[in-house]
Amino acid sequence: MLENKNILIGISAGISAYKICELVRMYRKAGANVRVVLTPNALNLVTKLTLETLSNNEVYVNNFEIDEYKPEHIALTESDILVIAPATANTIGKIANGICDNLLLSTACAFSKPTLIVPAMNTNMWNNPIVQENIRKLSKLGYHILEPASGYLACGTSGVGRMREVEEIFDKTVEIMTPKLKGKKILITAGGTREKIDPVRYITNASSGKMGLAIADTAHAMGADVTLVSTFKTDKPYLNYVAETALEMEKIVKEQTPFQDCVIMAAAVSDYRVENYSSQKIKRGKCIGPAGETTSLMSSGGGKYIMSADNNEATGLDKNAESASNAGLQAECQQGGKCIGLAGETTSWMGGECINLEGNSITLKLVENPDILKEICAERKGETPIIVGFCAESENLIENAKIKIQHKGCDLLIANDISRKDIGFDSDSNEVYIINRELNIKHIEKDTKQNIAKRILEEIFE
Ligand code: C5P
Repeated sequence: MLENKNILIGISAGISAYKICELVRMYRKAGANVRVVLTPNALNLVTKLTLETLSNNEVYVNNFEIDEYKPEHIALTESDILVIAPATANTIGKIANGICDNLLLSTACAFSKPTLIVPAMNTNMWNNPIVQENIRKLSKLGYHILEPASGYLACGTSGVGRMREVEEIFDKTVEIMTPKLKGKKILITAGGTREKIDPVRYITNASSGKMGLAIADTAHAMGADVTLVSTFKTDKPYLNYVAETALEMEKIVKEQTPFQDCVIMAAAVSDYRVENYSSQKIKRGKCIGPAGETTSLMSSGGGKYIMSADNNEATGLDKNAESASNAGLQAECQQGGKCIGLAGETTSWMGGECINLEGNSITLKLVENPDILKEICAERKGETPIIVGFCAESENLIENAKIKIQHKGCDLLIANDISRKDIGFDSDSNEVYIINRELNIKHIEKDTKQNIAKRILEEIFE
């Protein structure tokens, strides 16, 4: 599996350093040549002799020790991958800031091939915003991060911070070194669209975007050329377009689809949008504009007119002036009355006052959004790209999914049950059914969204 690959392991001083002895053995068993570099502190936790024996190579700790023609850190960079495990908060922070005060760090700084960082630390350290900032920075720069698991920690507490098992580190290494999706262009949509009512209000849904993001991250880690179209901005090392509304998403997806090998529509796209967006914030009640200011509302005759002798106070609706003709309404306003507009019809004269009318209500008219998935399937010429839809149902999951895949015309449909609280919307787990055009169904049992994402991608490109 890893025949003739040169793997460089970097060990920093986490208690789980002892587990790396087993990892060295696993890499070697898979055919790799393994070299190990440790930080001086890590030597307190695991011995040079053990690692030398297991790797069958010299083990490095200090600068100025390697008997080769190149400086040590440059000689060590001639490896196919650098796996830093366990990676302490200290080592992560130094790599993120270009600090090179030991051999492992100067090697990491000079390393131009993939680096896999496997953090392990106390929960509070992991949750520290500075550590999180460093992780984000490294991830954005293209470093692979195998995030810690939750579990029992060496400090005697339980929480997030436990180094991933060596089997997972091994699998991740293989995934990085043999990128299954290399050369594939994949577009993924994620998040719930926001359909705007006015500048501050919108209609949306409960989708967190985590499933779409997990697919994008996994596809990227598997070597794909990823384009993410999300309703939120991300800090990812791949192309990210932000589309807040269904119409914005439609435009980007349609522009990009012809260049893709696969499109995965994981976003929860709103089926309806508000027909009349108000460019000004809608005020409670009805609004009164000062006399003398003619506006589109007044001139359209859409408002109501109230007489006020002193031009200070609204005294009531003048039924006669209701729906007055444009010219008449303007003329009367200029003569010293006030005009009332309908709530929601805000105009430039919003400098006026607002009055509350009892029982006042507004109606939002919703119009249908384009069905992006259905449209890109209909517009596709031939078999490319592969198009995958999602289907979130609260009842009759499989029956509805079978109807939906035929209605939409996509190649695969990923169905999940949103009536369950433990999976789906805003959860870190999911459980899905993958349905193909022949209506065959594959059940993927409850797992993390990352693992579900991997299974989905494997199914698409099997
Ligand atoms: O019809 P329904 O909304 O249940 O379909 C869900 C699937 O269709 C998802 O893949 C979603 O991204 C896509 N969709 C779309 N455009 C819409 C609504 C949903 O592309 N307006």
